[in-house]
Amino acid sequence: MQLCVIGAGYVGLVTAACFADMGNEVVCVETDPFRLTRLQAGEVPIHEPGLQALLTSHLASGHLRFTRQLAEGVERAAVVFIAVGTPSEEDGSADLSHVLAVAEQLGSTLRHACLVVNKSTVPVGTAERVQKVINQRLHSRQLALQVTVASNPEFLKEGSAIDDFMRPDRVLLGCADSASEELLRRLYAPFVRNNERVLCMDVRAAEFSKYAANAFLATKISFINEMAGLCGLLDVDIEQVRRGIGSDKRIGTHFIYAGCGYGGSCFPKDVKALIHSAEQQGFEPAILRAVEARNALQKTLLFEALREHFSGHLQGRVVALWGLAFKPGTDDLREAPSLVLLDALLAAGARVQGCDPVACDGVAARYAQALASGQLKLGESPYTAVEGADALVLVTEWKQFRQPDFRRVRGLMRMPALFDGRNIYDSLELSELGFLYRGIGRPVADHCKASAA
Ligand SMILES: NC(=O)c1ccc[n+]([C@@H]2O[C@H](COP(=O)([O-])OP(=O)(O)OC[C@H]3O[C@@H](n4cnc5c(N)ncnc54)[C@H](O)[C@@H]3O)[C@@H](O)[C@H]2O)c1
Repeated sequence: MQLCVIGAGYVGLVTAACFADMGNEVVCVETDPFRLTRLQAGEVPIHEPGLQALLTSHLASGHLRFTRQLAEGVERAAVVFIAVGTPSEEDGSADLSHVLAVAEQLGSTLRHACLVVNKSTVPVGTAERVQKVINQRLHSRQLALQVTVASNPEFLKEGSAIDDFMRPDRVLLGCADSASEELLRRLYAPFVRNNERVLCMDVRAAEFSKYAANAFLATKISFINEMAGLCGLLDVDIEQVRRGIGSDKRIGTHFIYAGCGYGGSCFPKDVKALIHSAEQQGFEPAILRAVEARNALQKTLLFEALREHFSGHLQGRVVALWGLAFKPGTDDLREAPSLVLLDALLAAGARVQGCDPVACDGVAARYAQALASGQLKLGESPYTAVEGADALVLVTEWKQFRQPDFRRVRGLMRMPALFDGRNIYDSLELSELGFLYRGIGRPVADHCKASAA
């Protein structure tokens, strides 16, 4: 099938590459000149495992190409996917300017009937708005084309996006008519050989489902974080509790890891947008507000623990940070807990030695001044990061940090204090090695209590 994907970000690029891999002819439209040039040169501008191989292969096969020109992208397309960003506005609502700009362009450009599919995460009613904008433009061009708008929210996860797209848990299709549904079913058939995973519903339900899914996952995280806070006070280990409750099928083992808060390009902005939608309807979203407040608090916990550890004097202290991306497997820094910690540490006069396998460039661009002054150092080696450190903080649980040589780490640090923002380490083992260990919602081991006293 001839396809056009508008926007070559985490979602658009993966969508375009995966559809190309199934034999479709895909043209991807991207307006960011830097991103476009790299893509046309065969270089993936983001970190996403497996994406480079697909891009290389399908640029060569001719199944995938990139352009800045929307007219060129849609020229022969039977289906046009919109996959542009929908960041938060000041008031928390979803900024639809990119989506609506694309709708205007489509209405001004299309010369043939096609299906427009919205993959961006958008509030209920957006497909209707996009349809209206396209129709108005077509009308002003005196064209009576059948252009239909459907919703197909995306559920891929950064870090495993190719796998998620190729083998989705489900594909949601929000269609206003059976012809659109049929076309999308055909397009997705190779990805869901078992058809039970295609869920068709009305357009508004599909739009809402995406927000409800992200809000539910964010709620699970904030719930376990709240339990962790209480565990910390009651001398209970949240890790044991996690195992105790996760084995209940009704609860499940996913998204119940206590930690230093969720970040990323989706949960924070989608919870905000849902709160805004509720407010617009005069509905009080009490749970969503609590989820957001708990997460904001959670992102401050590591700094508070460090401040307490150093009795409020962080000036000149050397703090090593392991993991800067908002989660393992990506270079995405949007809303990352590491940034909240970095801001606070730098403001308090600490010297920070950060380490991340792929996100250092993004951090360097944000903290150019601290980098230039030497207050911030960045690198890829976890061992270099801990040299001379007074404390080590695990922020993002990349595989590289799971089983380090802690004897070596201890030997390199000035003071062996470890703050585990994701509860991945064995507190007793570390205490035995002489570390002062602090997790999230975990009791202080006897050894630590003794050395802290
Ligand atoms: N990132 C994720 O994990 C994820 C997962 C599911 C859903 N989503 C949703 O998908 C949407 C896209 O997210 P993303 O993370 O890929 O965003 P992104 O910011 O990484 O990518 C968006 C891309 O669209 C381009 N763009 C903007 N306007 C354009 C235009 N008029 N024409 C062509 N290109 C244009 C931008 O330059 C950018 O490259 C959002 O609504 C997001 O909420 C994201």
